[in-house]
Amino acid sequence: MSESILDAFKEDHSAEKIRDYSQKLKVGIIGTGWIAEAHVKAYKKCPDVEIVALADLIPGKAEAFCKRYDVGENIKFYPSHKELIDAGICDAVSVCTYNATHAQCAIYALEHNVSVLLEKPMCVTLDEAVAICKAEKASSAVLSIGFQPRFDENMKMLKKVVQSGALGKIYYIQTGGGRRRGIPTPFGTSFIEKETAGIGALGDIGCYSLDMVLNSIGYPKPLTVSGYTSDYFGKDPSYEHSDKFGVDDFAAGFIRLEGGIILDFRIAWAMNLDTPGDTIIMGTKGSVRVPSTECWNGSIGGPLVIYHEIAGEQTETIIPEKDMDEDCFDIKIRSFCDAVKEGGEAPVPCSQILYNQAIIDGIAKSAALGREIEINIPEI
Ligand SMILES: NC(=O)c1ccc[n+]([C@@H]2O[C@H](COP(=O)([O-])OP(=O)(O)OC[C@H]3O[C@@H](n4cnc5c(N)ncnc54)[C@H](O)[C@@H]3O)[C@@H](O)[C@H]2O)c1
Repeated sequence: MSESILDAFKEDHSAEKIRDYSQKLKVGIIGTGWIAEAHVKAYKKCPDVEIVALADLIPGKAEAFCKRYDVGENIKFYPSHKELIDAGICDAVSVCTYNATHAQCAIYALEHNVSVLLEKPMCVTLDEAVAICKAEKASSAVLSIGFQPRFDENMKMLKKVVQSGALGKIYYIQTGGGRRRGIPTPFGTSFIEKETAGIGALGDIGCYSLDMVLNSIGYPKPLTVSGYTSDYFGKDPSYEHSDKFGVDDFAAGFIRLEGGIILDFRIAWAMNLDTPGDTIIMGTKGSVRVPSTECWNGSIGGPLVIYHEIAGEQTETIIPEKDMDEDCFDIKIRSFCDAVKEGGEAPVPCSQILYNQAIIDGIAKSAALGREIEINIPEI
């Protein structure tokens, strides 16, 4: 039977997932603070997931969280990640703790072959990131890092543009952004204290803008970095939490990447400026401008503009923004669950985010030393 010629234009849904909803994935949440709510909401949209356990270091916090967000029936509560994992009732956990305990929670879970969705930034230091990657390699469990912008259609389009070759060879990138005033203290000071956050704007929102460009160009290895960090706003006595502020509120770095690519980066939680600049990716055949956002935790700040030459004319192509039917945070959770259930690849692999963390670590170290340094990433 001959197919209609229009069949060629029909959407192909053959690759869409057919999920087995009868097999429930048992999930635990480690750390019941601010972001844990978003994890719970997204897991609740998955009919094949059951949240079975919550853990928090602060006595009573997990129980109160459970009540407030109606997490579920028969939830078990634990005083830390260790007891939750040792209980042996979870196939997977979301690590929603502050940055300083990301590594210990993720490694302990992986050592017990419990899959991990680890919130961003991956951790605080490169040494921790290496230890996490080693634990992942030795484990049969899945580890995915919580970068929800990866699932945004506009972010995906940016990657498609670069990967299509339309820009030619990429040689220079500028990225970053931030906000005029926006040091995050949503429910306390865990983002700004050295002991809990470890790093400030550099890790919190810096990791997103780094991931956007590095993922687009295929995550080349970082080689050297000259970094700078400051804390003028956080330490200003007029700032209400200045006594607790122990991290950076602004960071910048000049990074050389494998393949002769320069990455010029700057990020701010607070500054006397609207934006330190849009993201630009410059290539030998074209360049793309990505309008800046305050955070980069979701989509891009406006339509992508490609600057190129057509038939000898300098021209611009504007790529209209795509609307999303589904929230990218929900897709982050669903794709992690699918990878765990199917034994598939991590949606956001630690092997890539290792380089992101290496840059963050390099900027912090170079800033402390006051000079350019080499970035040495051990073999995993
Ligand atoms: N993806 C996103 O959009 C997004 C948004 C906000 C925050 N985050 C990330 O999520 C993480 C948590 O942020 P938050 O604002 O929810 O922090 P938070 O301080 O509100 O909550 C963290 C909780 O973890 C608990 N905790 C720490 N170590 C623990 C351990 N070993 N075992 C059990 N509980 C432990 C703390 O007691 C605290 O209650 C941070 O790394 C942050 O960068 C991601």
